[in-house]
Amino acid sequence: MDSLTIRRPDDWHLHLRDGEMLRLVAPASRHFGRAIVMPNLVPPVVTGDDARAYRDRVIAAGFAKPLMTLYLTEGTDPDDVVRAHADGVIHAVKLYPAGATTNSASGVRDMGRVRPVLAAMEAAGVPLCLHGEVTAAEVDIFDREAAFLDRVLTPLRAAHPGLKLTLEHVTTSDAVDWVRAHPGVGATITVQHLMANRNDMLAGGMRPHFYCLPILKRDTHQAVLRRAATSGEAQFFLGTDSAPHPTHAKEASCCAAGCFTAPHALPLLAHVFEAEGALDRMEAFASLNGPAHYGLPANDDTITLTKGEPLDFPERIEGHGQSVTLFDPGHPVHWHVTEPA
Ligand code: NCD
Ligand code: ZN
Repeated sequence: MDSLTIRRPDDWHLHLRDGEMLRLVAPASRHFGRAIVMPNLVPPVVTGDDARAYRDRVIAAGFAKPLMTLYLTEGTDPDDVVRAHADGVIHAVKLYPAGATTNSASGVRDMGRVRPVLAAMEAAGVPLCLHGEVTAAEVDIFDREAAFLDRVLTPLRAAHPGLKLTLEHVTTSDAVDWVRAHPGVGATITVQHLMANRNDMLAGGMRPHFYCLPILKRDTHQAVLRRAATSGEAQFFLGTDSAPHPTHAKEASCCAAGCFTAPHALPLLAHVFEAEGALDRMEAFASLNGPAHYGLPANDDTITLTKGEPLDFPERIEGHGQSVTLFDPGHPVHWHVTEPA
């Protein structure tokens, strides 16, 4: 198969940032229909009014169909969340454990303090998206996702069985197993976690553009993620977690976490699905399972990917005074989005 036409994909986890960076990166996601836009700005998007204003800036920057999220804090007002959801301003709420990742300092330290808002969301049908890592200093960075399942997610699920949950950017077989054991829970998977493992990041030199959170795991976890994504199973769908940082912040003695994949995410994904002999299941992962999880229709229109010459993507994109380096898997990728151009 050297051509694939699928319903237009959506990106169920995307960082668009704000200001000049937003203007630079928003057009890079143009092949996606909708995108869940992450709220970890500085300062974060915490109220319905914040989300409404940010949505307007995103649309003005060129991304037409953003699905907005609120950043859950220990001070979040349950009524504001429910109202913003009922008004169609927000699609979901995002839980960041405080300190887990980029701009998460305002996140949740004590889950007990957000019980009232979680109960209100459960009653009103507001989805919760989770960054699934514990932050305890004594937990090894490679074990933080697995620890989150036991310490936070299992009790949360038991306390709020009706709360719609999406475990974001799963990176371990532990998380894949947990999701399969909990029907109705969704899980996003990024392109970089399908394409790479920690050897790609660390063996033969440290590659900052492979550094993201949750951190890349060993190859056995990568293999489980690839099987889950290409299986067609309804609980797994694409969330690129494309997370642009200025090139100088990535190529630094303390490198920022995040991989920028928006411009070439779909060609990279097609490469993975072809390698797994599963091109016929890419549509489920990229275009069908996400909307079904959220109770939305799939997009009406289609895109076509075509196999040909090696994809010639730029090392970085520049503009608006910004420079962002693309994630480069380090080998040729032969897929192109050919239609619509
Ligand atoms: C994200 C970012 O830069 O905002 N970074 C990342 O490594 N994925 C935050 C996140 O989703 O964890
Ligand atoms: Zn993210």
